[in-house]
Amino acid sequence: MILHTFPSPPLHGTTLLPGDKSISHRAILFAALADGESRAENLLVSGVTRAMLDALTALAIPWQLDGTTLTVQGRGLRHWPAPAQPINCGNSATTMRLLAGALAASGVTAVLDGTPGLRRRPMTRIVNPLQQMGVNIRASEGCAPLLLGESDMPLTAVQYTLPVASAQVKSCLLLAGLVAAGPVTLREPGPSRDHTERMLRAMGVQVDTLHEGQVTLHPPTAPLRPLQMTIPGDISSAAFLIVAALIVPGSQVTLRGVGLNPTRTGLLDALRQMGARIAISNAAEVGGEPVGDLTLTADELHGTEVGGDLVVRMIDEFPAFAVAAALAEGQTVVRDATELRHKESDRITALCRELQAIGADVTETADGFIINGQPRLPGGTVNPHGDHRLAMSLAVAGLASAQGVIVQNAEITHESFPSFADKLVALGAAVKRDA
Ligand code: S3P
Repeated sequence: MILHTFPSPPLHGTTLLPGDKSISHRAILFAALADGESRAENLLVSGVTRAMLDALTALAIPWQLDGTTLTVQGRGLRHWPAPAQPINCGNSATTMRLLAGALAASGVTAVLDGTPGLRRRPMTRIVNPLQQMGVNIRASEGCAPLLLGESDMPLTAVQYTLPVASAQVKSCLLLAGLVAAGPVTLREPGPSRDHTERMLRAMGVQVDTLHEGQVTLHPPTAPLRPLQMTIPGDISSAAFLIVAALIVPGSQVTLRGVGLNPTRTGLLDALRQMGARIAISNAAEVGGEPVGDLTLTADELHGTEVGGDLVVRMIDEFPAFAVAAALAEGQTVVRDATELRHKESDRITALCRELQAIGADVTETADGFIINGQPRLPGGTVNPHGDHRLAMSLAVAGLASAQGVIVQNAEITHESFPSFADKLVALGAAVKRDA
């Protein structure tokens, strides 16, 4: 599919976001570990969550999807059968890393594999600590396929410091920790998203957060309680609509029911530093997570600096953020963001290259980038490098460009936000799709 976005009239309206990707992945997987039937509403139904659902099928764990309502008949911890075939995690690193932890807790033999893109993602970051816990797991040259053999139970209780802040690594190890001989303590250099901690607590597990960046899980003695939850709107998908509303002059857009977990709201802080007008209303709690409605009003933005913990709290939002920075007055500097090189693409190199292709003044640095903003981007044709977030961010840039932006291979947007183009159109954006 080719997505063509054109210079757009002001965006107006109110919209709902699909369910959060991270929480949807966890709802599917954790439900399979619970004893009995779980139910999750507003599940994200997309390419990457399909991979997790297919994994349940491969593990003979029954599930049903009715629209966006998921029910799963969980088999309970340590009651998963060994899958007969390698499990295909598609393009989804979250599926692979979290599933590896859950399989380690189940103690079964399994092979985890995925697309060539997923096979390039680093897996040593979970394999090394899992081995320290006594899990029989191997990677091939640090990457997928991952081979799990039977492990001696219980697993070793460890205290482990993650070299990089990563919710996927933390979650993988917490899941393995469910069957450890004693408490498992993890320390992280930054505040990665804490959905796993919140959801395991709701399932009856004692998970103590001593302070930001240190968590201890106490292995449960009782079965895990099934989940009954509604999944908040995905702030990472909202990011594209937020930036669209802020950069198309005259726009005012409201996004309802967006997840506002403080470990995920770094983009809002960075945009506010740039002078963005973002109002939050109807603050509430849904599924153990803070949510609210966001109203965005387009206005002039100015350059800013992003580094340190803020990077972790907006780790998936840099492509969208960079588009806002490319249209802000003055310079924006991003530092401490080397981790972006290990996402669906090398998000520093690919983002800089494609922003340059549409006329942005952006310079790649070792751990980030520097952007000199301009009032309007010329536009052009871009390659999303197999990265859904890059595709959607570049499409949004087209709305505030002189000639529009043509995004090739734009079907990749279906990995995390299948209704992206429809949502833009509903808000009044000028968008065309070609098969
Ligand atoms: C995720 C954690 C982040 C994020 C990814 C989803 C999760 O990855 O980039 O989109 O659901 O735990 P890392 O843990 O690699 O930072």
